[in-house]
Formats: sequence, structure tokens, C-alpha cells
Amino acid sequence: MLTKQAIDAFTALTGSAPAGVWAAPGRINLIGEHTDYNDGFVLPFALPQAAYVAAAPRADGRWRFRSVDLDETVEIGGAELLPGTPGWHSYLAGVVWALRQAGHTVGGADLVLTSDVPLGAGLSSSAAIECAALAALAELNSLDIDPMDRAKLARVAENAYVGAPTGLLDQAASTLCVADHALFLDCRTLDTRQVPLAVTAAGLEILVVDTRTRHSHVDGEYASRRASCEEACRILGIPALRDVTDLAAALDVLPEEVGRRVRHVVTEDERVLAAVEALSAGDHAELGRLMTASHASMRDDYEITETSVDLAVETACAAGALGARMTGGGFGGCVLALVRSDQVEAVTTAVRAAFAGAGVAEPVTFLGRPSAGARRLV
Ligand code: GLA
Repeated sequence: MLTKQAIDAFTALTGSAPAGVWAAPGRINLIGEHTDYNDGFVLPFALPQAAYVAAAPRADGRWRFRSVDLDETVEIGGAELLPGTPGWHSYLAGVVWALRQAGHTVGGADLVLTSDVPLGAGLSSSAAIECAALAALAELNSLDIDPMDRAKLARVAENAYVGAPTGLLDQAASTLCVADHALFLDCRTLDTRQVPLAVTAAGLEILVVDTRTRHSHVDGEYASRRASCEEACRILGIPALRDVTDLAAALDVLPEEVGRRVRHVVTEDERVLAAVEALSAGDHAELGRLMTASHASMRDDYEITETSVDLAVETACAAGALGARMTGGGFGGCVLALVRSDQVEAVTTAVRAAFAGAGVAEPVTFLGRPSAGARRLV
């Protein structure tokens, strides 16, 4: 449906059909939070929800970006590709800029965007746009860029153009994930492995609870967590927290709060490796236990949760989920719960009742089925 919407909007804008439509998904991180910028491990999977870009080249060397959802159109030339330019179109313009910075020739184009990835929910709506635009522009310009390099370029757009100092997790997930799998990514070596995550076949579902809580100070908190990790590396004399080999010894020399941040990152890396083992062994009870332990670590050590996500996790677990945790950068957003298929309704009902009882706005719930990464649709 969104494919048709993108095509129709493109045709209305330009008077002709697009050369193609490309899509890239939002993601859920199964486990491995705030480990990507510490050279650690992550284990995301792609959502069915995606950003769609209908595109075609233009002859005048300019770029026109249209958002169907916002009903806005912006047109710029090469001189207006300026990092830090605010606005929704920076996610698209940033990709043009990142490609050109890397030495690629990118001709002018019309790009029409629509997306059903919830905004600000910690599901990587921005990476989905960047990765869809990258897929479109790479193909329109016949650029031979392998998937990991595409993810890296999309991250450059996010970091240097949009100005958000994120790691590689979101763009790698949006580009590299395949259906029915989670993507194991070593953020130091950039080695990847597709780990089967056929939850439905195992009689399970990943229930996503979007708490719809969004905090305006998220960017500052994210930067401050990164700063604590860098401070710890300076004190410990190591390049990245990946290099902590003796956690107890590290905690002895670090200030208390910085030590707790480090403990989260180091133990989270261990949990990602254990989660890959658990999945390979079909041990979903262990996977659930690791998810809940990850949440506790984010809550107590990294201090990036807040009351509604904590409530969702506690309630889901009490109602029979095998495990639950917040996903994404933190301070609200989504919780995922690993639930037996026959308990989805009970867990959903319990979470809704708990939210109503606590006077928290009604959450949005849906099933997170591991889906395909960036691709051409038409
Ligand atoms: C955000 C960032 C990612 C990652 C997560 C936390 O989603 O974009 O790079 O750091 O937070 O795991």
C-alpha cells in the first residue's frame, strides 16, 4: 500500500512514474544496547514497518525531496547541501552529501518519501529513511557499494549531516537484516552473522509495546552516556570498552557512576554473546532471562529507562513473558517482550491494565516479526 502511495505521490509531483521504489525497515534491537559505539556486539532484527522512497533522476543536477506524510516539498542544489541544516529532509540530503563526500558522483534526483515506522519510538525511523535513500541513490547512479559500506555511509549522514552522534547499529540493521533472522554484528571487526530467529515457528512472538513516551532530553543524555564511556577509556588507558578484560579491577579505579556505565556495557556485551548461544540452542527461556537482565542493567547501571518502560517490562514478565526489555537509545520508546503465542493476549491485556491503573497513556502494541532489510520493491 505504501509502495502505491509513494508511486502516486511521485507521479503527482513530477508528472511521470518513478524509476523505482526502494524500502528500508525500522529495527528492533533484540539485545545489545549502547554497545555499538563501544566497539561491542549488537543483535537487531528488521521490522515489517519501513521507509519507502520513490525516485527518478533529474537532468538539472538539483534534488527535490517530498514527504508524503508531512505534505512538504523541499528543493536544493549542490551548494545547499550543508551539514547541520535542520528539517526532515536532512535525512535525505545527508545521504546525497555523504555519498559525495566519499567521492561518488550523485546526479540530481526527485525523491518522494513515505514511512510507517513510528517516529521517536526508538525503532530507527531516521535510519530507515537514510538507508532507503541510499539504496535508491546508489542504484540511480549505478554505484557499486557493498551493504556494509552502505550502512556506514548512512551513518555518516546521521552523524555528520543530521548531527546525531549514534553508532552503527541502526543503519547496519536497516541495510543488512534478512527475514526470520537477527543480525549479529561485531561493531569492532564489522563481522556479521545471520542468526535464525523464526519465533513464530517456535510458538513464540515478540510483542512490541510502544509506550509512546518520548523525552526531549534524549539527545543530551545519549551524548552524556557516550562521554562517560570515553572518560572510562581515558582512565583505563584502553581504546574502547570492548577492551575491558577485568571488570572488577576496572570498577576499583573508576568513579562510582562511570563504573556503573562501564558495568552495563561490559555485561551487555556478554549477554549478546550468550543470547546468540541461546538462540542457536533453541533455549528461549534463557534468551528471555538475558533480555530481562539487560533491562535491569539499563535501568540500574546505565540509567536510561523511565517509569512507563519499567512498568511495561515488570508487568509483561509477571504476566508470563519469558523476558522483556526496552529497546533503542532509551528514555521511553518501546519495550519488547518474548511471549508464548498463546499468552500474547494475556500479556497485552495485563500491560494495558497496568498502564490504565498507573494513569499512563494507552500504549500501542504490535507483533515484531523479523523482516527483510533494504531492498528495491518496484
Ligand atoms: C540509538 C543509536 C544506536 C545505538 C542505540 C543504543 O538507537 O542510534 O547507534 O547506540 O541508540 O543501543
